[in-house]
Amino acid sequence: MKKREQWTSKIGFILAAAGSAIGLGAIWKLPYVAGTNGGGAFFLIFLLFTLLIAMPLLLAEFILGRSTQKEAVSAYRQVSPGTKWHWIGRLGVITSFLLLSFYSVVGGWILIYLFRSITGGLASLEADQYGPLFNNVIANPVEALIAHFIFMILTIWVVQGGIQKGIERASKYMMPALFILFLIIVIRSLSLDGAWEGVTFFLQPDLSEITSETILFAMGQSFFSLSLGVSIMVTYSSYLPKEESLPRSVGSVVGLSLFISLLAGLAIFPAVFAFGFEPSEGPGLIFAVLPAVFSQMAFGSVFFTLFIALLLFATLTSAFSLLEIIVASITKNDQEKRKKAAWSAGLLIFVMGIPSALSFGVMNDFLIFGLPFFDAVDFLVSNILLPIGALLISIFVPLKIPKDVLWKEMSQGTNIAKKWFAIWLFLIRYLAPVAIAIVFLNVIGVI
Ligand code: PFF
Repeated sequence: MKKREQWTSKIGFILAAAGSAIGLGAIWKLPYVAGTNGGGAFFLIFLLFTLLIAMPLLLAEFILGRSTQKEAVSAYRQVSPGTKWHWIGRLGVITSFLLLSFYSVVGGWILIYLFRSITGGLASLEADQYGPLFNNVIANPVEALIAHFIFMILTIWVVQGGIQKGIERASKYMMPALFILFLIIVIRSLSLDGAWEGVTFFLQPDLSEITSETILFAMGQSFFSLSLGVSIMVTYSSYLPKEESLPRSVGSVVGLSLFISLLAGLAIFPAVFAFGFEPSEGPGLIFAVLPAVFSQMAFGSVFFTLFIALLLFATLTSAFSLLEIIVASITKNDQEKRKKAAWSAGLLIFVMGIPSALSFGVMNDFLIFGLPFFDAVDFLVSNILLPIGALLISIFVPLKIPKDVLWKEMSQGTNIAKKWFAIWLFLIRYLAPVAIAIVFLNVIGVI
């Protein structure tokens, strides 16, 4: 039998899991969704969901993956053979298709910005011209489609090469570089005139702003930004050696992801207020605001090019994880089928993303439930499918995996106190399903 590939080091796994988590969610989505949903109130609820529900669920996915050493669909099958539970894994694969179809469109926008910043097309504009520029860029169907296509090709090309070589090698250097550059932007942004108003907007919750929608979006964001509910983390941790401590890995991934979310907010909102942008600008928020911040820096265009290259990398590592779970579920780790699976799934995703890529231009008037196609797919994935996936995992893991296995996986490689196990079990068994159900029922007006 062929030996399964494993991560070559613990840091490799953390970086890949964090690489999946950290991407557009923290850097692009969080600022614009917070901006349209009440700023500080949103961020507070997002934090609560992340710490009390998403974090325990991440551990649950890790435990499932490592205890079975199987990719997602097979993991559910192994724990509960002959039942329909493996549909959680299937649902994850379907969700990944949909998610990657619009994720890649935004990845394309980043490519366009990278190209323009290298060729000087973004320099020497006034701060308020970056918003209209973005709208022009995304309205151009040819450019948006080509960029979406190139982004998908890059993703396919890496994923077809195999898990270790493709992902691990590069994450080691790019992720730390992204953090450092982000810190530089935050410092610049916080030193702009009028920056404080942005800090207050982002970090001071005004509880009167909370609506059922705010809570729904905050919940969706907490799952989206930790790549939860799709069973990606099940697949990733299945490659992890037995001796590694899972709770510690969870702490690192959540800590890194929250930290970058905080940095993103602190980079964007001070500048939004200092330059007179609207926080509720929508999906174009970072594309309008960040170039304006960089234009106020010494060597701004060099820094911007570097930043956008690193953002592209962060986006790609998340995209790899999405295609990886699809490929792993098709090939069941049979390396011979890998290439074909990556290309066919990847190209299908490109096609599925075409309406999203066109939805800010030629398909502007094509609305689904009153939303542009792009926003409708995002809404379906982030606020419905990911929470449903998470809900099912929170039911499956404590119900189907024996307690002693759960404890063994949780305590391996660490001397964690038993009380944490009890707390964790309570959070996933009761709090997570109840909270997710309440949020849904509340939004549809049942309670
Ligand atoms: N967590 C990624 C981000 O925040 O950009 C997006 C994502 C990747 C979500 C993979 C879900 C997923 F399964």
